[in-house]
Amino acid sequence: MKILITGGAGYIGSHVAKQLLETTDYQITILDNLSTGSIKTIKTLQTIKTFDFIELDLKEFDKVKEILEKNRFDVIIHFAAFSIVSESMQNPFKYYFNNTVNTTNLIKCAVKADVKKFIFSSTAAVYGDVQQNSNIREDFPTNPINPYGMSKLMSEKILQDTTKISKNFKYIIFRYFNVAGADMFYKNDLLIPRIGERHEPETHLIPLVVKTALKKREVLNIYGDDFDTFDGSCIRDYIHVEDLANAHIEAITYLDKNESDIFNLGYAKGYSVKEIVNSIKNITNCDFKTQIIERRGGDPAFLVSDNGKILDKMKWKPKFNNLELICKSAYEWEKNI
Ligand SMILES: NC(=O)c1ccc[n+]([C@@H]2O[C@H](COP(=O)([O-])OP(=O)(O)OC[C@H]3O[C@@H](n4cnc5c(N)ncnc54)[C@H](O)[C@@H]3O)[C@@H](O)[C@H]2O)c1
Repeated sequence: MKILITGGAGYIGSHVAKQLLETTDYQITILDNLSTGSIKTIKTLQTIKTFDFIELDLKEFDKVKEILEKNRFDVIIHFAAFSIVSESMQNPFKYYFNNTVNTTNLIKCAVKADVKKFIFSSTAAVYGDVQQNSNIREDFPTNPINPYGMSKLMSEKILQDTTKISKNFKYIIFRYFNVAGADMFYKNDLLIPRIGERHEPETHLIPLVVKTALKKREVLNIYGDDFDTFDGSCIRDYIHVEDLANAHIEAITYLDKNESDIFNLGYAKGYSVKEIVNSIKNITNCDFKTQIIERRGGDPAFLVSDNGKILDKMKWKPKFNNLELICKSAYEWEKNI
């Protein structure tokens, strides 16, 4: 089986590539323009098993077409995108071009090159500002409140329309909640992640807290503590990147006997920002400064998945549903970079 991973030099794509290289004999190709991904990550993956790496921007439509026609991939797993919400508010075109226009071209070329399966990274941001504090199901209304969420929702619609005109083409759309943690690689009983999150600027909570614990940052900002939650800080659903990655591998065989579908990827359990801070203080034995600052626009109080559909239909079995493991792996990774 031949698989193309776009964005495989990035955080999530590299974990999926790593699992595929370690646990399958599928033939992997990574395509990435290294805009937010890292060549170091590619080099680390190459030490696990060799694979083809194509440094290319998806905006190069002719080359994308040529690569797909030449390689005849069976599956595309599409991670390549920009994903900073605040940046998408300031520069929506950047997001619509990369996340929607380039994705549209990739899907069109995939259909032409007879790719049968397409697995797509979407986001809980497609749900928008969910008012009620209940776990979000896939059939909840989608109403993105920023260009990032909208750029992903538009790609979802394009995939859905594609299956109407192309009977051999199937997709899985994964709507990720908050992805965190790093490679669960042990050597001599010590957890030593080989790959992990390398975002610059970093906007995700767990790596920010870990950086503060390691004194790479002076203070951790908490955006508002007057939300309608038990401790006033926002509640989010944090999923270990290894479990999230594994769902992508399950999706490949799932599509052999099942139709295209949309699944949430989360643990259906929420933790507040303050709980995450305390958990990392305990794990690392480090104290550090936090400060409460103004809320960010569009931050819902509670964003937690209902994951019943993927557990039931795909029989997905998460192995790292443990906040301590998520934070510990993120910490061990950050310590060594
Ligand atoms: N990290 C999260 O918590 C989270 C949550 C929800 C959804 N997502 C989605 O998951 C996917 C992966 O996220 P991530 O955190 O690994 O991001 P990332 O920035 O680490 O990885 C994205 C990769 O895509 C590459 N890329 C971007 N545009 C490209 C282009 N035009 N051509 C070729 N390569 C390109 C980048 O160089 C990078 O390696 C994204 O689609 C993102 O929207 C992530």
